[in-house]
Amino acid sequence: MKKTNGSPEASTLSTAWDYTPSPESTEHIHLEKQYELFIDGKFVKPGAGKYFDTINPATEQKIASVAEADEKDVNKAVQAARKAYDKVWSRMPAAERAKYIYRIARMIQERSREFAVIESMDGGKPIRESRDIDVPLAANHFFYYAGWADKLEYAFPNRKPNSLGVAGQIIPWNFPLLMAAWKIAPALATGNTVVLKPAETTPLTALKLAELIRDSGLPDGVVNIITGAGKTGAAIVGHPDINKIAFTGSTDVGKLIQKTLAGTSKKLTLELGGKAANIIFEDAPIDQAVEGIINGIFFNQGHVCCAGSRLFVQEGIADTVIRKLKARMESLIVGDPLDKNTDIGAINSKGQLETINRYIEIGKNEGAEIHQSSCTLPGKGYFCKPTLFLNASQSHRIVQEEIFGPVLTIQTFRTVEEVIEKANNIPYGLSAGVWTDKGSKIFNLTSRLRAGVIWANTYNKFDPTSPFGGYKESGFGREGGLHGLQPYLKF
Ligand code: NAI
Ligand code: MG
Repeated sequence: MKKTNGSPEASTLSTAWDYTPSPESTEHIHLEKQYELFIDGKFVKPGAGKYFDTINPATEQKIASVAEADEKDVNKAVQAARKAYDKVWSRMPAAERAKYIYRIARMIQERSREFAVIESMDGGKPIRESRDIDVPLAANHFFYYAGWADKLEYAFPNRKPNSLGVAGQIIPWNFPLLMAAWKIAPALATGNTVVLKPAETTPLTALKLAELIRDSGLPDGVVNIITGAGKTGAAIVGHPDINKIAFTGSTDVGKLIQKTLAGTSKKLTLELGGKAANIIFEDAPIDQAVEGIINGIFFNQGHVCCAGSRLFVQEGIADTVIRKLKARMESLIVGDPLDKNTDIGAINSKGQLETINRYIEIGKNEGAEIHQSSCTLPGKGYFCKPTLFLNASQSHRIVQEEIFGPVLTIQTFRTVEEVIEKANNIPYGLSAGVWTDKGSKIFNLTSRLRAGVIWANTYNKFDPTSPFGGYKESGFGREGGLHGLQPYLKF
């Protein structure tokens, strides 16, 4: 079934990776034809009666119509959140708040299969990831923050933590349910109410979460989920009665939001783009490192702000690492996101596929050497072959700019000083990876790389207890862990 590139690794792997199709069933999924706005505990029609389509990027077929909220709808949602804050949520004992958050976590677990399948249908990510990573982590964030709700004085000893009021939260399409959990769970635990907007290409799991929240008995208006595109997001950002904005998405929109909020009393956290260095030293365990590189860049089609998109490999092992990397790429299965064997699913949207393809052309024109796996892509849907750029140089746009797709640039280095300099010489600073047998090298690099998260001898590991966030154009503020409580509190 799979073609190989003729190397010994590739031919061994190709027999091992020959699987028959194993698609996850969609029969247990219930989806509406049309989705409304979740405001004040009820699904309500948008005032202007406008709807947009959300499609399945693997089939290009429409899944459902989704309401487009305008300024008036945003205002209704903010009013509902304010009323719920004043009358109910801010007055409720913290231990009672915790029970609701805990119940939401339990209900996500109970409905995890349904969430996983819908996530893969609406956004294109492989079911293995939505099932094993997105959905369990989303539940874990609610569990984790439920535990903090009545212990805020212990989180911030000798200070008096107080909630802010209404939080406006805007999230992207790469981890739709998980980003909703990252935003909603700490906001509720700290006693705030919420108006959340999912991305226009992936609204369905957030709307399913809205159904779940309604069924959980959470008081009306504590969480409002409204849909729409950039205009709806801008209306949330600009609403005068919101106390805090939390945004995850592109650096361009992040900068725009920061400008809009300058001079207001609204608090802001931004989690923006990235261009992580994944650094492999000669003394690294090479096979594990190759798996880490593959996971770092091809996980979720490279739609990851912390993707290990720049590989730095020490000169003496470069040939070996590149040979093994190419062989491993041949065994990656690109295709149906709902198939349990799929490694790389669909690119989230036509627009994003065009962006990635544009960068692939830029890379070729800049003179880097391209290598793609020999897999065949499905005839329909938005797919991209796993791609390497060899001999990339520091000044190339493909090295400096975020591509947000399955495209890895490869640079070699000789010394620790050289790699630190190159890794840091970039506008972003979200994450990095270091692979070496030597602990002292890890400590040296982790203290000198300007990145918010640094993994050592692993990559893309997430846990609700550890904070996440960046430096420079990757944004500011931390999400996750104890640090993730602070942006929702005043003292
Ligand atoms: P985007 O930043 O436009 O979208 C993210 C969210 O912001 C969506 O919910 C969108 O509706 C909303 N939004 C758009 N314009 C807004 C505005 N003026 N005010 C308030 N909210 C607004 O990202 P897009 O265009 O989908 O992706 C472009 C690039 O951004 C990607 O190629 C990637 O490089 C980067 N990106 C980074 C993400 C991250 O996790 N850091 C996530 C998504 C994209
Ligand atoms: Mg969609």
